[in-house]
Amino acid sequence: MTPATLFTPAKAGRLTLRNRIVMAPMTRLRAAVDGTPTPEMATYYAQRASAGLIVSEGIWPSPAGQSEWRVPGLSEERHVNGWQVVTRAVHDAGGTIVAQIMHGGRNGHPKARIDGSVPAGPSAVAKTEPVHLADGTKGAPVTPREMTLDDIEQAVTDYVSAAVNAVRAGFDGVEIHAANSYLPHQFLADNTNMRTDNYGGSIAGRIRFPLRVLRAVSDAVGADRTAIRLSPGNPQFEMRELDPAPVYRALLHELNDLGLAYLHLTDADDYPALHDLRPRWAGTLVANVGENRAATTRSAAERPLAQGLADAVSFGRGFLVNPDLPYRLRHGLSWNEMDTAHLYTPGPTGYTDYPSLRSAG
Ligand SMILES: Cc1cc2nc3c(=O)[nH]c(=O)nc-3n(C[C@H](O)[C@H](O)[C@H](O)COP(=O)(O)O)c2cc1C
Repeated sequence: MTPATLFTPAKAGRLTLRNRIVMAPMTRLRAAVDGTPTPEMATYYAQRASAGLIVSEGIWPSPAGQSEWRVPGLSEERHVNGWQVVTRAVHDAGGTIVAQIMHGGRNGHPKARIDGSVPAGPSAVAKTEPVHLADGTKGAPVTPREMTLDDIEQAVTDYVSAAVNAVRAGFDGVEIHAANSYLPHQFLADNTNMRTDNYGGSIAGRIRFPLRVLRAVSDAVGADRTAIRLSPGNPQFEMRELDPAPVYRALLHELNDLGLAYLHLTDADDYPALHDLRPRWAGTLVANVGENRAATTRSAAERPLAQGLADAVSFGRGFLVNPDLPYRLRHGLSWNEMDTAHLYTPGPTGYTDYPSLRSAG
């Protein structure tokens, strides 16, 4: 059988991908201050609808999960209404879009949150990387509260209601963000989970929270449109995982039974996650090979496809700067320069003004 190329259609659970070029989730901090998506966000995503699949920027499931100011939410009716405009624009442009549900856990700051609360994570261990605050400055996250068992129950409930809201808002599915230092990852990693109860200690304890979330969300909206993002052993974002292989093998062993739409997996330098986990994952695998490195290129993306290590590949920065990325990849065209000064600033500059070379269709 000829190996798939970036341009071969694919299936991922209930989703049909017109190509294997996935837009990776990217926080852009352009929601209204109450977390409602803006019409400008609809324009941004619709411009990128030629992706095989768009994964939205991380979206908080509840105010307690808000990690930075102007990150969008999915807990209120006004959020659902705002996202409906986004999903309709993407669908009208022929695209497919899932919502990335991103609970900050310990990542956050009272001044970066609508409800002004102190963030809570598995343990009271602070992160140091500054976050965007409401007054436009950046501040180091405060020491989080240790989540109580009630907090854990509430977080599971919040993921479920956000997933239900995502479907009501017209998303084609949901991706649970369990990578890059967000809440489920904080339960998995060594330096952020010091718990001695059922949610810490042993491998079975560490994987319990992510498993509960994935099972509950799958029950609520269907496993075949529920996905998970993992970044095993990737030391970025102040995460330390001393021996990721047994933890993630155990997690995938359990997740395989659910029949999820896909696994979105970041490769790492110290732990070759794709090589180790591809044979252990029964379903569709979307690889990301760009973290910690230069932005994913066409040749870097083709490698895991050719090696049978992935079914599709996600591009972050490539899509950020090129609304027409699949067209540019197909024709070997050059990429726009990244406007780093306007990565996270409100307004269209550095957001919806990147030129497209594809004039129509
Ligand atoms: C501006 C920006 C924001 C990002 N926000 C998120 C996010 O909200 N959720 C997430 O899972 N990853 C996020 N990422 C990581 C990307 O999804 C992707 O994994 C990373 O950019 C590496 O891929 P690339 O080399 O193709 O850019 C972000 C990356 C960038 C550049």
